[in-house]
Amino acid sequence: MSRMKSALALSLTIISLVSFAQCYHGKGYETLEKFLEAQSLKRSENYIDDLDSGDEYSPVYIGSQEGLKAANKIIAWPGQPKGLNFDQYSGYVTVDPKAGRALFYYFAESENCSTKPLVLWLNGGPGCSSFGAGAMTELGPFRVNKDGKTLWHNEYAWNKVANVIFLESPAGVGFSYSNTSSDYSTGDKQTAKDSYTFLVNWLERFPEFKTRDFYITGESYAGHYVPQLAQLILHNNKITNQTVINLKGIAMGNAFVDVDTQRKGRYDYVWTHSLISDEIYHGLVSNCIPSSNGTISDACQTYREQGVKAIGNIDYYNIYAPLCDSTSNTPLVNGYDPCADDYVFSYLNNPEVQKSLHANATGIPGPWSVCSNVEWTESPYTVLPTIKKLMTNGISVWLYSGDTDSVVPVTTTRYAINKLGVMVKTPWYPWYTQGEVGGYVVEYENLTFVTVRGAGHLIPSYQPSRALALFSSFLGGKLPPSS
Ligand SMILES: *[C@@H]1O[C@H](CO)[C@@H](O)[C@H](O)[C@H]1NC(C)=O
Ligand SMILES: *[C@@H]1O[C@H](CO)[C@@H](O)[C@H](O)[C@H]1NC(C)=O
Ligand SMILES: *[C@@H]1O[C@H](CO)[C@@H](O)[C@H](O)[C@H]1NC(C)=O
Ligand SMILES: *[C@@H]1O[C@H](CO)[C@@H](O)[C@H](O)[C@H]1NC(C)=O
Ligand SMILES: *[C@@H]1O[C@H](CO)[C@@H](O)[C@H](O)[C@H]1NC(C)=O
Ligand SMILES: *[C@@H]1O[C@H](CO)[C@@H](O)[C@H](O)[C@H]1NC(C)=O
Repeated sequence: MSRMKSALALSLTIISLVSFAQCYHGKGYETLEKFLEAQSLKRSENYIDDLDSGDEYSPVYIGSQEGLKAANKIIAWPGQPKGLNFDQYSGYVTVDPKAGRALFYYFAESENCSTKPLVLWLNGGPGCSSFGAGAMTELGPFRVNKDGKTLWHNEYAWNKVANVIFLESPAGVGFSYSNTSSDYSTGDKQTAKDSYTFLVNWLERFPEFKTRDFYITGESYAGHYVPQLAQLILHNNKITNQTVINLKGIAMGNAFVDVDTQRKGRYDYVWTHSLISDEIYHGLVSNCIPSSNGTISDACQTYREQGVKAIGNIDYYNIYAPLCDSTSNTPLVNGYDPCADDYVFSYLNNPEVQKSLHANATGIPGPWSVCSNVEWTESPYTVLPTIKKLMTNGISVWLYSGDTDSVVPVTTTRYAINKLGVMVKTPWYPWYTQGEVGGYVVEYENLTFVTVRGAGHLIPSYQPSRALALFSSFLGGKLPPSS
């Protein structure tokens, strides 16, 4: 067990009593689990949806970007494979000079960068790293080898078809930091505002991308970040005298968008996938679906503990995937290695690597870890109204889902879509890639739902080629191929 994981495992034992699913410590992504528990206990609404209110534009901070693009160019990553034909950049963008708050990004240009769209990728948590998880184990051009020192090239990287920015957001996550420690207590709104300021400054640093078609993608808790940032961009675009961002669409994978449908969707999923007994299922459904005041009854708690025991030690994020066991030599499927997080941890904590990537220049407390403990103070129970607004504003909205994830399973996404009450435009059909069914599609009015067959929560890590096919269809503005 790496240091990162032991630390997470420790912090989890505190809440394991009230939790439905805490015994699996194999991944660094337990923060969503913790968050879901906190949400169910704390039902008081403290979020006001005002990211798109006001007619007066208050200009965002724009710093001088002179020379920074050249300074951010990555000459080479330590241990990187040869023969690459794209440029890469990484470094910090200051979003608040008074507080000393700066966000870290990694930018992988596409092979044909002058024609391809610009895409922002966000991981969830809240508190997990888009760079360490998204770029290094999912859709970025490199994965770390077992040695923790060298890299291999991911031939299904999304920068084949787009210029991709991976943003570590908010401050306190990954290499992003603030010199004002109170900034580490944050929430959805501050995250959206900082991400917006980041984008405006980033586009000053890379002005050739200012008018490029722009898309926001992400997964898990980014089901909040993505629509909220889109909402803020649309609003500011109408009133800004700074940069207008050419937002075209958003796509969210296994997205946490609605508390009410999340729980029911999860219980149904684990029952229909034969992970719990009928008794536990009925016990959970009748005792744990949040009551209006959100308290968790003793009965609910008992059923949750039984649920954890019934499921056993599997990867909740990918129920059929092997667990990390560094002594076993199970052959990899599609290059998926359940211990990949350990290799990324070793690699990114190497000072030589950090230097090459222009990360941690100010000596932020370490070690770097894939998920961080940022305190989350505000989060709406649902972002479905935000998603609805985007749909009516002509933004292309895709909700996609890996169908072997039990944390934000495909059932929760389907219940959430039902709640939106939208009309079917193109009925359910299987989509194909490489001669096989890649998953299933339903096109609704202004909303597309796509599943990825045999993929967990981190879709591109387990089904890289299906994920790239799906992403290409999304960017191309067409439904995934029906043959
Ligand atoms: C944070 O403080 C360090 C040390 O004083 C300084 O070098 C750095 O520029 C500050 N960060 C920002 C974003 O102002
Ligand atoms: C890049 O563009 C050139 C010229 O349009 C084309 O021949 C080439 O196939 C493109 N490469 C990729 C990877 O799209
Ligand atoms: C933009 O508007 C703000 C507030 O109205 C003003 O202070 C600022 O000078 C304007 N900037 C430009 C470039 O016009
Ligand atoms: C919340 O609701 C449950 C049953 O609906 C009730 O037993 C409990 O006392 C309530 N708790 C609070 C703090 O109001
Ligand atoms: C930043 O660098 C310092 C050494 O200068 C190291 O002790 C620390 O762990 C690093 N922080 C992170 C987040 O990697
Ligand atoms: C779909 O988008 C159009 C505008 O692009 C809008 O008029 C319509 O109300 C939207 N429908 C739904 C259900 O969002």
